[in-house]
Amino acid sequence: MRLFLDTAHIDQIREINKWGVLSGVTTNPTLVAKEHDDVERVWKEILSEVKGDVSLETTEPEAGPMYEQGLKLAAMGENAVVKVPMTPAGLEAGRRLSDEGIRINVTLVFSPAQAVLAAEIGAYIVSPFIGRIDDAAADGMHALRQICDIYDIQGYETEVLAASLRHPMHVVEAALAGADICTMPYDVFSKLVKHPLTDKGLDQFNKDWESLQKELRGSVPGSIEKGA
Ligand code: G3P
Repeated sequence: MRLFLDTAHIDQIREINKWGVLSGVTTNPTLVAKEHDDVERVWKEILSEVKGDVSLETTEPEAGPMYEQGLKLAAMGENAVVKVPMTPAGLEAGRRLSDEGIRINVTLVFSPAQAVLAAEIGAYIVSPFIGRIDDAAADGMHALRQICDIYDIQGYETEVLAASLRHPMHVVEAALAGADICTMPYDVFSKLVKHPLTDKGLDQFNKDWESLQKELRGSVPGSIEKGA
């Protein structure tokens, strides 16, 4: 399973990228708007920082202009993936882009039926929004499991990207469901590495190591018998 960051904030991307586990980035108009900066500059910086897939979202509502915009976004970098919304226009533009070999990510997906449509237009990625399904008093993880099962049964090659993840257990459950990719905000990514017993254990190791150093500094060299 690949791990993506869901952000347009370059500092967050650079920080997580140092861990050696970041396989891509997803952006959307809301995330880009939070940067209050030139949009193309923001996208280009992300495309050059990350080796893996970077999803850039179309904003044109009609199929024709969305397709044209998709061509431009795809041309921004070899790792660019074009996001189109799960709408009739998004399907039409997405199909044209996909037929031309452009990798598309169908976003704003909330049901297995929508995920079937995304696969049928040859999408590279489908993005079900798990947390937002939960927000609507439904079961996002159940929808994700159904999508993964349907794709397996039908042999669809579209990759399932679990989006709108709100906490580490969402990532664990998405992995168990068979999602190909999880995308998450910086705070969720940062929590993946955390465990109170890791901190406690490291603290004890450091204390014990420090007291050994003090003990050795206070002794005559060679006077401490091994194993004593
Ligand atoms: O990028 C799409 C998705 O991950 C958005 O998540 O937290 O705004 O529901 P959220």
